[in-house]
Amino acid sequence: MQLFLDSADEKQVKYWLGQGVLDGVTTNPSVLFRDGVVDPLPALESLARLTAPGVLHAEVTVPRGAELVHQGIELSQLADNIAVKVPVQTPDGAPCLAEIHELSSAGVAVNSTACLSFGQAALAAKAGASYLSILVGRIDDEGGDGAAVIRDLRRWLDDWQVDAKIIAASVRGTADVRRSMTAGAHCVTVPPAVLAKLADHKYSRHTVQQFLDDARAVAG
Ligand code: G3P
Repeated sequence: MQLFLDSADEKQVKYWLGQGVLDGVTTNPSVLFRDGVVDPLPALESLARLTAPGVLHAEVTVPRGAELVHQGIELSQLADNIAVKVPVQTPDGAPCLAEIHELSSAGVAVNSTACLSFGQAALAAKAGASYLSILVGRIDDEGGDGAAVIRDLRRWLDDWQVDAKIIAASVRGTADVRRSMTAGAHCVTVPPAVLAKLADHKYSRHTVQQFLDDARAVAG
């Protein structure tokens, strides 16, 4: 199982790489904006260098067509360890499956993102995507069950031996991480604040303090 950091904050990326738990880093235009990136291409290049040999996921910023494919190729050429994120459809409802297919056929590792249903993700896999980003938090926002989508998708991928990896994304809390991991996601991408919570437990702090106090007492 792979763990990714959903962040463009180099300090956070370095910190969690140093903890030895990261297999890669995911970004999207909203993450770049949130983390104060003003010049995306050099920032992505730098993140790719930091993340290697793990994969850096970088997203296209044009909605469709030849321009999207062209930008996807350019992003993939920033470094050897880039996966290109392509939204599964446009804001007006057209599928981007042809673009995913063209990029995948050109040898680009495509991460089909903004998948909010089993059907969207299954079609993206058929089109050749290497990764399927299921936005579990956003599915749950609308009264759906993100973990159930992951469970069904994993069974379908395994049954038909389709070679694509599920990434659980839009993870808002530690319960989302647990539900996604146990539902069969191959990868989970987690924002730094949620990863910090995942590593922490107040009673562990208390327990460790007790060990240290008793060690001092034994030493006299
Ligand atoms: O990786 C997708 C993520 O950035 C979206 O998260 O919480 O805005 O739905 P959220």
